Amino acid sequence: MTQNEMKQKVAEAALAYVEAGTIVGVGTGSTANMFIDALATKKNDIIGAVASSEATAQRLKGHGIPVLDLNEALKQVASLSVYIDGADEFDGKKNLTKGGGGALTREKIVAAASDKFICIVDETKRVDHLGAFPLPIEVIPMACELVIGIAKKNGGEPKVRAGFTTDNGNIIIDVHGLKITDPRALEDELNSVPGVVTNGIFSHQGANVVLMGTPDGVITIE
Ligand code: 5RP
Repeated sequence: MTQNEMKQKVAEAALAYVEAGTIVGVGTGSTANMFIDALATKKNDIIGAVASSEATAQRLKGHGIPVLDLNEALKQVASLSVYIDGADEFDGKKNLTKGGGGALTREKIVAAASDKFICIVDETKRVDHLGAFPLPIEVIPMACELVIGIAKKNGGEPKVRAGFTTDNGNIIIDVHGLKITDPRALEDELNSVPGVVTNGIFSHQGANVVLMGTPDGVITIE
């Protein structure tokens, strides 16, 4: 089974977490795109979706799925029932690295506004320690060199993502070579730097459930 076939299986499995009459938070990336395509089969059952990026909003709209602004959604409901998204890495405690697609800030906001985060990944994303995948940090451009210096002090090799601007108008610094032994501490430390919008460690907003695609089928990790 190819990686894409495993992604397809977890995307379809995530539909089981979509409840009728609710607003669904939807992530960004190739696995999330497969979920959006599957969600189209349930579009008449849900109120709509909140998108974690402009790209996701366009894909949802293309299927005729109503897209709600998060602030409008939270005037209708106390929280979104579920947030469904992929990840670049996950560890045994369901901590995640996200932001390969650069949508980490909106992803973290929508995850925080949701009762449950269902993470849809294939088995290649499983790691013992986060850090093999470069850690994305969304940064206000003025703080670029400040954040580069702090990333280096943490033992990383920071690289500005070339030619990329986030949906919020900021830059991404990808930090290579980190071995992240305490995800929550590093998430907090980086987020405390002025000019950091957020970083791609999802420890506070870790997954509640990971659906992991394998050649033998989908494994549910709770
Ligand atoms: C985007 C993300 C994605 O969830 C992550 O990059 C995984 O993407 P894919 O499903 O394409 O492997 O965090 O910002």
